Amino acid sequence: MASQAAKRVLVVAGMYFQRIGNGSGTGASTARLFAKNGYSVALIARGGDFVNNLATEINSSGGQAAPFTVPSYTHDGITSAWDAIHQRFPKPEYAIRAALFNVGYGVWKPFLDITPQEVQESLNTNVAAAFSFSRGAILAFKDNDIEEPNGKRGALIFTGATASTRGNVLTSAFAAAKFGTRALSQSLAKEFNKQNIHVAHLSRLIVQVKPRPPDQQESLTLRSDWSPIASQL
Ligand SMILES: NC(=O)c1ccc[n+]([C@@H]2O[C@H](COP(=O)([O-])OP(=O)(O)OC[C@H]3O[C@@H](n4cnc5c(N)ncnc54)[C@H](OP(=O)(O)O)[C@@H]3O)[C@@H](O)[C@H]2O)c1
Repeated sequence: MASQAAKRVLVVAGMYFQRIGNGSGTGASTARLFAKNGYSVALIARGGDFVNNLATEINSSGGQAAPFTVPSYTHDGITSAWDAIHQRFPKPEYAIRAALFNVGYGVWKPFLDITPQEVQESLNTNVAAAFSFSRGAILAFKDNDIEEPNGKRGALIFTGATASTRGNVLTSAFAAAKFGTRALSQSLAKEFNKQNIHVAHLSRLIVQVKPRPPDQQESLTLRSDWSPIASQL
């Protein structure tokens, strides 16, 4: 069982903000913020230079990061990534304390233009991949001891969107899947709360990480910042 003295690890899946492509997306920003706050960060992505460059950037600014590439977000791909992360960040030196599922596949189209392939891809990426990632996170957390003062073994967080709670005219395939991700998070929060595992589903607005003034210490105990949100689940 991982002890209090172990170095804390954050695992993030989904790194690259496709519409901007400059590293300002939620996954990369969260990895940078946690690294600055002393976490080692494991970066799961489908490859490309971006994730390698992000790991290099974090390492060269005093943090600790490692990329884990997957060919796609299939169950086997995600499970292999978790295996590799355990090898790279083994117990008792490290403890995986936080995991962010930031993968998302958006479809914004009128209902009659949406193809069966897009429906499948949306469900695979937003729902099935979230199940696989969650399995890896829950298994890792179950093996941790309870961390004080937050009283948790670990925190699993999902990046939501407006479409997670509200369908709209162009979002049938996207919202149906994003509702599914939120339903998963709500179920996990209820199932694993009694095992001291924290599960939160956050809106984009809440996840967006902004630097605080230098005189204010960034508090990343997770639970103190995010438990009020989880309690709304
Ligand atoms: N951008 C927004 O305005 C906005 C607003 C509200 C909520 N969100 C949510 O915030 C999260 C992050 O979004 P983002 O805008 O920062 O980035 P994004 O471009 O939506 O993608 C997030 C990640 O999802 C993976 N991904 C994208 N398309 C995929 C596909 N077709 N198949 C498999 N994986 C795919 C990518 O992983 P790789 O790193 O492996 O390429 C990417 O890093 C998502 O859950 C999104 O729904 C975004």
